[in-house]
Amino acid sequence: TGHVKQIAVTGAAGQICYSLLFRIARGELYGPRQPISLRLLDLPQVQPALRGVVMELEDGAFPLLADVAVTDDARLAFRDIDAAILVGSRPRSKGMERRDLLATNAEIFRLQGRALNDVAKLDAKVLVVGNPANTNAMILSEHAPEFPSENITSMIRLDHNRALAQLARKALVGLEEIKGLVVWGNHSPTMFVDWSHATVAGRPLADIVADHDWYHKTLIPQVARRGTAVIEARGASSAASAANAAIDHMRDWINGSGGDWVSMGLCSDGSYGIPEGLFCGSPAICAEGQYARVADLKIRGYARVMLDRTVAELIEEREAVRALVS
Ligand code: NAI
Repeated sequence: TGHVKQIAVTGAAGQICYSLLFRIARGELYGPRQPISLRLLDLPQVQPALRGVVMELEDGAFPLLADVAVTDDARLAFRDIDAAILVGSRPRSKGMERRDLLATNAEIFRLQGRALNDVAKLDAKVLVVGNPANTNAMILSEHAPEFPSENITSMIRLDHNRALAQLARKALVGLEEIKGLVVWGNHSPTMFVDWSHATVAGRPLADIVADHDWYHKTLIPQVARRGTAVIEARGASSAASAANAAIDHMRDWINGSGGDWVSMGLCSDGSYGIPEGLFCGSPAICAEGQYARVADLKIRGYARVMLDRTVAELIEEREAVRALVS
């Protein structure tokens, strides 16, 4: 089975995975000719539910799905993987303090980082979806010292897609006509939708929309609060759109983004005033299985203030986790 791509997915019994796994099984990450094998990880107490998901994967009769393995052990799930999507995390329950949420997730990602370090292929592509996604990715990376930090990313693509959809609608253009959009920062209400580099057919998107008030007072808060709006409407958090964003993120990373910018949570190299080692939503172009950070952008005025604000929140999460762990 040397040519079969091994994909680990955590939180496999949860609601995002109920959409995600079936799309992976259809071949949406590696394309229609690449056989894949799924390694599903979830907690011991949900293994019965997970067996139901495995039955449904079987009932999908997916020609590319060579094999499905189920485990509650990260070392088994991550052995020799080509890719991993880490969706599993501890959600915030009623009355739970933020510090408890951070501490519980820090422990999950510490253990998974060690497993990744010890058993994964060094060129495996890893995406962290489970919240707080950026800080979880940072912890994962810190506990996988031999695993390249550039192969660990966090998901800001849902925010990117949310912004793209609203902008295309407002500008009356096709989604694919908008180039150079980026969402910076934390996957939280502080994330910053930056349209200052965005264009349509070479023209600034801001000139086409010609409504800065709408950008500041409607678009930015709307994207920031979209997750809450979905919960209020659906009675459950975004799942299919989150799975879709995870597919977009990984598919572009594997197959290329066709020269377009995408937003990815990347381990900072210290550029743009983002402290080195923080995982922060940033612009990237993907080609030939690699991403390249978009460098040397001018960040001025409002954009500078907004980027600093979301980075300050990431620093605060990092310090909160450090205080809890030590
Ligand atoms: P869910 O609660 O339906 O599923 C989570 C699953 O993770 C559960 O099956 C749970 O048993 C499992 N899990 C918990 N601890 C685990 C561990 N140590 N190892 C393996 N599995 C473990 O949640 P849902 O809706 O699927 O969301 C998953 C996560 O994704 C949440 O943290 C959510 O906040 C986050 N999310 C992130 C987004 C982003 O843009 N970065 C967007 C939407 C959701």
